[in-house]
Amino acid sequence: MIGQVSNGSRWGSFGANAACVVLSTAFAGCGDSSKAEAGASRPVSSGSHITASEARPAAVAALVDLTPPRRVPEPTARERIGRAIFFDARLSNPPGVSCATCHDPDKAFSGNHGSTTGVALGSRPGHFARRNTPSVLYMKYVPVFHFALEDDDDLVESPFGGFTWSGRADSVAEFSRLPLLDADEMNNGSEGALLTKLRDASYAGDFSHEFAGALDAPAPAVRAVGEALQAFLTSDAMSPFSSKFDDFLRGRARLSPLEMRGLRTFESPGKGACNACHVVYDTWNRPEASLFTNFGYDALGVPRNRAVTANADPNHYDLGLCERAQIRVRSSSPQWCLRFRTPSLRNVAVRDRFMHNGVFSKLRDAVAFYATRSTNPNLWYPSGAKFDDAPPKYRRNVNGVSLPYNGTEGAAPVLNDEDVDAIVAFLQTLTDQPYRSRTPP
Ligand code: HEC
Ligand code: HEC
Repeated sequence: MIGQVSNGSRWGSFGANAACVVLSTAFAGCGDSSKAEAGASRPVSSGSHITASEARPAAVAALVDLTPPRRVPEPTARERIGRAIFFDARLSNPPGVSCATCHDPDKAFSGNHGSTTGVALGSRPGHFARRNTPSVLYMKYVPVFHFALEDDDDLVESPFGGFTWSGRADSVAEFSRLPLLDADEMNNGSEGALLTKLRDASYAGDFSHEFAGALDAPAPAVRAVGEALQAFLTSDAMSPFSSKFDDFLRGRARLSPLEMRGLRTFESPGKGACNACHVVYDTWNRPEASLFTNFGYDALGVPRNRAVTANADPNHYDLGLCERAQIRVRSSSPQWCLRFRTPSLRNVAVRDRFMHNGVFSKLRDAVAFYATRSTNPNLWYPSGAKFDDAPPKYRRNVNGVSLPYNGTEGAAPVLNDEDVDAIVAFLQTLTDQPYRSRTPP
């Protein structure tokens, strides 16, 4: 058992190899990087600069590590069709934009199609999606939108789950038609226009074989596209769990002293307390328990992004959850305005922009914002108006009670510069294998 644990080449690179199988055209050369990484992820056996209490002794890891090697099955026919649709740049008007143009496989399936404003550029110049593009890795774990008690002490139920920053769909299948038809995204004028393109697609034969009758009429075609995309995005290959931190959980890698300090600060109830929302269980060798989100909603009051074209109108605001129109479970009460779904922090260091409005272009700024938003708001709100991306009547919805942003103005921040650096170093360990070579922003 101990021999297996220290065998980095057999265990450490599995997720990346699986991703290479499914996404072989997207990750040209990933075989090489996974080989290099396999060596790097091998537990250090001697000469370590880590103290005993910080390290995971190999023997303990061997005892608790009952995780079998992660076997990602061969893609099913449905997943292969979903993948082909995801990368099909003919499915926009004008052609040229696929799902992967915004959800860029080189950026852990995030990105904004070259836009530098913080929100995604659609298929036509000057047309932008409303928000910053989230990663579509780990979609398998997003629960449907629902209300639940956050913990045993709560008296009021809180919202959780649903797809997008404001939870406006309950499944990938349900959501997928929106970008395809949105005039500011892929801009297919109608379901009929989309059907015409699908009938001409190279995968049309496989598509109608898998979804009998789907190419006969627009509505079943769009439904089948959603099912296929869902099969692809929720496949195991799209939840790789191949980061350095996952290797650490499995007892096969060590964190540096700085990364370890970052983890401790991230978890400390008196410091970052980040894991209250960005959930992590660092002593559990099941990486899927550490998704770095509880899928809950919060109002952080992030600064207004003045580079966003729509924000030239001073009355334009994104109210988040309370704008969600889906009525199966209601969320339109004003108390939910300004709340956005807590994003997973897996692969966060690969992103170009941060927060729902893409206001930050540096990961360090996103973390430093937590540290000093309340103690030194002038750093973040140049206009002098705190929470300037919210209509004044909703500003009281912004969370001012949770650590680390519950400090009073002028007080010392609970996270100092070194804490922020350490958290950033820790967040960089959450990058899955295929993206590890990318220089973080
Ligand atoms: C023009 C850029 C763009 C294109 C093209 C695009 N998306 Fe997105 N995607 C976004 C943005 C922006 C969001 C966030 C939407 C929101 O919060 O309202 C998003 C959100 C998502 C989500 C929800 C993620 C989560 O964490 O809940 C999924 C799933 C998704 N997109 C899948 C797709 C699929 C499938 C396609 C192709 C049919 C696609 N997207 C095409 C920009 C894009
Ligand atoms: C009370 C819940 C909560 C806590 C505590 C919390 N976060 Fe967040 N975090 C969120 C929400 C909600 C967002 C999205 C906010 C938005 O876009 O408006 C977010 C966004 C982020 C982002 C940007 C991710 C992206 O994909 O754009 C980073 C980075 C981040 N948080 C790190 C941290 C760190 C580090 C801590 C601790 C210092 C922390 N968070 C504490 C809820 C929380």
